[in-house]
Amino acid sequence: MLASGILGYATETFESLVEGGAGAIVTKSVGLKPRKGYANPTVVQASYGLINAMGLPNSGIDEFVNEIREAKTVLEVPLIVSVYGYSAEEYASVARKAEAAGADAVELNVSCPHVKETGSEIGQNPEILTEVVKRVKAVVSKPVIAKLSPNVTNIEDIAEAAEKAGADALTAINTVKAMAIDTETAKPILANKVGGLSGLAVKPIALRCVYDIYERVKIPIIGCGGITNWTDAVEFLLAGASAVQIGTAIATKGTSVFKSVTRGLDAYLERKGFESVNEIVGLSHRR
Ligand SMILES: Cc1cc2nc3c(=O)[nH]c(=O)nc-3n(C[C@H](O)[C@H](O)[C@H](O)COP(=O)(O)O)c2cc1C
Repeated sequence: MLASGILGYATETFESLVEGGAGAIVTKSVGLKPRKGYANPTVVQASYGLINAMGLPNSGIDEFVNEIREAKTVLEVPLIVSVYGYSAEEYASVARKAEAAGADAVELNVSCPHVKETGSEIGQNPEILTEVVKRVKAVVSKPVIAKLSPNVTNIEDIAEAAEKAGADALTAINTVKAMAIDTETAKPILANKVGGLSGLAVKPIALRCVYDIYERVKIPIIGCGGITNWTDAVEFLLAGASAVQIGTAIATKGTSVFKSVTRGLDAYLERKGFESVNEIVGLSHRR
């Protein structure tokens, strides 16, 4: 699947990602009201990854429903709409509108590390997270996926809270809180100072998160974080993910990264004598 926030705005790009082999699309996170996002610079290249603080720029759900409706007329893969809010009610209201416009599932961004009073400020607190998931589940009948933050002490506790609240699946992980400083000006590079690290550098962190979550919950896990080639994807499946998302690797490998991952995965399954991906989900937990 395409991870949220990377090329996830418009139908034309969704189509080119599906041509590149994406099996599902997750949109950019959308909120109740339009948001401008932060001033530039919003992205900085780090060693083995990117640090971004986009600030959740989006047109607001009332405008974005047009994009959802249009995408649904052409897309042949599931469209998952990523939503955020500043309260449980807001999450529920955005999710309900996204579903009414045709979303096949909603992913709750309870993990953005760089916008105040939403994102990880919600997902780091099991009580608030529980309320958000319950409110959304009460108004939406399509699957509800909670996207978790690695910026917590025990991600498996948060995963369990989301499962108990009724989440149908989990995505792990969003970006890792990070920053970069310009040595000449002695100032933080990002306009927001702090952002989230993604790409190769976060893969081992994301993998460990999926592994720990798998030991604790029964609902499906979608692995995300630094996946760049088919071996990365296989590692996530072995750790316990039932599916994976790819974001930053599109910047280096292009949209065909999805095809190269699925082809490599197919060849691996055949070489190892497995009939389906399901047979390797969580296999590394065998004792
Ligand atoms: C530029 C950029 C924008 C992002 N925007 C969002 C977003 O709007 N909502 C969200 O849930 N995650 C967002 N993310 C996080 C990604 O969906 C993903 O969780 C993270 O980048 C790790 O995966 P990757 O290493 O494959 O990119 C963004 C990441 C990047 C690099």
